[in-house]
Parts: sequence; structure tokens; C-alpha cells
Amino acid sequence: MGDVVVLPADAPRRVELERRGWPVVARSFGAQLDGDAVERERLRSLVDRAGLPVRALDVADVDAVLALDVATVGHYPGSVATRHEPFDRERATPSATRRGFGVWSGDDLVAMTFVDLLVGDDGAAAGLAAGSASAETDVTVVAVGHRGRGIGTAVKAASVLALLDAGVTRFRTGGSADNPAIIAANTALGYVRDEEWVTLEAGAL
Ligand SMILES: CC(C)(COP(=O)(O)OP(=O)(O)OC[C@H]1O[C@@H](n2cnc3c(N)ncnc32)[C@H](O)[C@@H]1OP(=O)(O)O)[C@@H](O)C(=O)NCCC(=O)NCCS
Repeated sequence: MGDVVVLPADAPRRVELERRGWPVVARSFGAQLDGDAVERERLRSLVDRAGLPVRALDVADVDAVLALDVATVGHYPGSVATRHEPFDRERATPSATRRGFGVWSGDDLVAMTFVDLLVGDDGAAAGLAAGSASAETDVTVVAVGHRGRGIGTAVKAASVLALLDAGVTRFRTGGSADNPAIIAANTALGYVRDEEWVTLEAGAL
């Protein structure tokens, strides 16, 4: 891979680079869901529809998290902007500011989402004072044999509902524009796309 630059899709520098022979090799997006726009009943029904237990992850689940991550690490579409770095033990460990939610089929963790919390100065990191916290989805993944059954949507919906109750007021997510499943899941939850990004690569023509 040559030199790579990630820019807002409407950045003037994009035009300049394309003129110099840097084609767009990937597109990605950001999206937001405001807490007061969350349709709780709708999200609850999306969780229930999965038909499997969904719950917050804790430190006892780290081995299961790492196993699901290893099994799916190469499955993320896109380029550098949406690349998934394999979890180490630290990133696989839920904490007050890094919440994890999982879906279980028996003893198997079959889906998970990890969300990083950004807490304002007036909010204790663990306490999440209302009005001061926003959440950024790091990753959402479903085990191969369980995709396309509403489980990815369900685990994201469960995370939004739990974090809303904990005082989060703004949810952000993002991903590859070439990932129709996660785009549809986000839309079902009420996320609105508000950022478009392009990845340009030198000499990729
Ligand atoms: C993206 C991912 C998490 C979605 O989970 P999932 O359980 O398969 O998705 P769901 O069954 O909840 O489907 C969500 C929506 O996408 C649609 N969908 C599912 N798979 C699709 C596909 N391959 N192509 C197009 N649409 C698809 C569903 O119809 C549904 O749309 P709807 O709400 O309009 O009915 C899963 O495919 C995955 O783990 N992919 C690899 C990792 C990844 O890309 N993660 C996202 C970036 S962090």
C-alpha cells in the first residue's frame, strides 16, 4: 500500500490530491444518535427480536471476547479508516469508560459491541453524570454463523438503552460505506449520517 490520506469527502485537498493521481480507494462515514431522539420501545423490540440473551459484559467475559475477536478479525470491510486492530487483553476488558455488551447462545458469545465513553469534566468517569457523557462505538461484530438474524442490531440497541439509562446523551458510530449491514443496523436504531470521509492512496490507479 502506498501513502494513504483520510479526508472529509468535501475537503478541498481531496480535489488537489485526485488531480495529482491519488484515487479514492475507500469511503467511510460517521453517524449520530441523540439521546432524546431514541425510541426506547422500538429499540427494546429490536433487542427482543434476537431471541437470545443480551447483557453487559464484564471482566469474567474477557476470554470469550478475545475468542470472538480472533475468529472475526479479518471480516471488517474498508481500508485504514475502518480497519480493526486485534483486541489485546486491555481493549477486551470492559471498564467504567469502555462498556461491552454481548449476545450469548448457550455458553458461546456470538456477538459483541464495545463502546468508549467520553465523560465531561463535571462527570465522574464511572458515575456518568447526566448531560455530560457521549459514547463512541469502537466495534460491533457477530459470529459468522449468526449473521443476518437481527443480532448485530440487537446488541447495538441493548448498548444504547443501557447507556441512555446510565446518563449518556449522545451516541456516535461510524464505519465503512461499503458495509450495508452495519449501515442498515444503524439506521434501524435511528442514527443519522453526518460525516462522509474518503481514503485516498498515492499511486493506486
Ligand atoms: C455488521 C454486522 C455486525 C451486522 O450484524 P448482523 O447480525 O449480521 O446484522 P443484522 O442481522 O442485525 O442486520 C442488520 C441489517 O442489515 C441487513 N443486512 C444483514 N446482512 C446484510 C448483508 N450482507 N448485505 C446487506 N444487508 C445486510 C439486514 O437485512 C438488516 O437490515 P434491516 O434492519 O433493514 O432488516 C455483521 O455482519 C458483522 O459482524 N460483520 C463483520 C464485522 C463488521 O463489519 N462490523 C461492523 C463494523 S464495526
